Amino acid sequence: MCGITGYLGTLPAVSTAINNLKRLEYRGYDSAGVAFISPQGLRVCRAEGRIVNLESAIKNEQAQSSVAIAHTRWATHGVPCEANSHPHRDCAGNVAVVHNGIIENYAQLRQELTARGHSFSSDTDTETLAHLIEEQLANATQPDLVTAVRDALKLVHGSYAVAVLWAGMPDCMVVARHDSPLIIGVGDSEMLIASDITAVMKYTRDVIVLEDGDCALVTREGATICNLNGDRVNRNHLSVDWDDTAAEKGGHAHFMLKEIYEGPRTVRETLRGRLTPEGLVNLNDLGLSAERIAAINRVCLIGCGTAYHAGVVARRFFEQLIRQPVEVHVASEYRYSDPILDENTLVVLISQSGETADTMAALRLARSYNAITLGVVNVIGSSLAREADARLITQAGPEIGVASTKAYLAQLTALTLLGLYLAEQRAPETASLQSEVRRALSSLPEWLEQCVALAPQMDALSAVVAESSGVFFLGRGYDYATALEAALKLKEISYLHAEAYPAGEMKHGPLALVEPGVTVVGLCTQRTTFDKMLSNLKEVSARSGAVVALIPNGQQVPENAEVTIELPKCPDALMPMLTIVPLQLLAYYVALRRGCPIDQPRNLAKSVTVE
Ligand code: M6R
Repeated sequence: MCGITGYLGTLPAVSTAINNLKRLEYRGYDSAGVAFISPQGLRVCRAEGRIVNLESAIKNEQAQSSVAIAHTRWATHGVPCEANSHPHRDCAGNVAVVHNGIIENYAQLRQELTARGHSFSSDTDTETLAHLIEEQLANATQPDLVTAVRDALKLVHGSYAVAVLWAGMPDCMVVARHDSPLIIGVGDSEMLIASDITAVMKYTRDVIVLEDGDCALVTREGATICNLNGDRVNRNHLSVDWDDTAAEKGGHAHFMLKEIYEGPRTVRETLRGRLTPEGLVNLNDLGLSAERIAAINRVCLIGCGTAYHAGVVARRFFEQLIRQPVEVHVASEYRYSDPILDENTLVVLISQSGETADTMAALRLARSYNAITLGVVNVIGSSLAREADARLITQAGPEIGVASTKAYLAQLTALTLLGLYLAEQRAPETASLQSEVRRALSSLPEWLEQCVALAPQMDALSAVVAESSGVFFLGRGYDYATALEAALKLKEISYLHAEAYPAGEMKHGPLALVEPGVTVVGLCTQRTTFDKMLSNLKEVSARSGAVVALIPNGQQVPENAEVTIELPKCPDALMPMLTIVPLQLLAYYVALRRGCPIDQPRNLAKSVTVE
């Protein structure tokens, strides 16, 4: 995700804020910028690409200042370019804002602000904030930045961590947060702000972590924190004793673990703004007209690796919901196939990076048949996002670990929204399933938190699995799709041989491999096949395989399972999102015990841009 830093004190503020920004480079970004208050007033400098480009651009500026805010942007609204980079300014150029998060009602706010005479110079949601603050300042008899920021934020729906400078109060900055992290570093006659503790650790280990709804006035003397109504709140100071390497990973030993912990937030962000007050799905920004949607008579889901597995889950979901033929394909196979496609086929290309060579080739093939192409993609300026007819951006933020974890959850969330959206428009006969899933969506992040909290249990289980001679993941229906992803995760980071099988297939061959030393993980989350799964697991125990079972809370615990993992209960169609989390954790802890280089497994790359 984007990064924010800020500095107020005796050091050169611009270079200090920019240097601290470099500590956040690992998150990934596409542009960078800084705002500061010089004797000439508020100044802003921005550059596309790396922070070094910003440093070259600022060389020609008189950048002497004791206060500065800086930002690295990961595009969410508007393509990566200088005009869309932060900081954003108001019309008069006296207010500068940096922002992480998403302002859900920005389109409406922008329309209203434009009608009141404001002019916009970017495509971002963030710029609306600068204009809202400008209005609050203009309307006040005694303008004051904290009050103006608080009142502006009351008009905003969504998530934010913001830092604001105003030429009218040159010795302070105002910061606020809701659903996006922001901390204040307390130094000796200097104050720092950042979206991540890492960025201030060179200067101070004394940190205040802001909570949702906090808005703080930061001066050289300290921080005064209030809620949005202006009532004072006290926040404890935290003394940070992390070492530098752990700090970059938010205190975790590896990016993969950090990213698993970010899963619930990723899902919350991908859902943000997508459900209307009536509870329907809002994907109107896809740009697919009602006529085009009505004409769709077939859906093809295409991806590679984890993205393909997200497609395997979605195939079943789409079929259940829209009652039309749905296919799922591995992109490297599809690109050399002789597909049956026409302008009424919706081809959904799924990719975290948006640059995978095989997925791009499949996209181009589909386009050559005039099919409707839709990219479900995490990187907004990527080739897939640019070349597909329509795009649905997942909100996972940069994923650094080669093993895809939070991006998979974001893909499943986006595909769930897409399935519901198509069904709402064209399949009234599945209305009751649609509402069951829609109702459950808002609880998903909370259930996912409960799944992440299974980490100690998965750590304990990993001791047995790490010694296994091989691992099978068995499931039926949605659980088979999850089994595929669980096996891939374990293989790619722990180098332990793992296979996924539809549970009913074991007796047609693979059961011959079950012997002492083999672990069989049974995914038993589906109501209709629960009893069948129990029988399949008995067949394993009879051959002395060690059985691990995953079941929803309240289900009968399989008597032959050596370990049973209980998951929150939710509609069957959403269980894949919950079930994969403990299995990602299991893969992580097994790899840790086997001493593998978890974030960069041998022979693999994060983005596979060659065939
Ligand atoms: O960037 P993409 O989503 O297109 O990448 C697809 C696969 O290369 C990727 O999911 C890969 O399988 C991961 N290493 C799995 O963890």
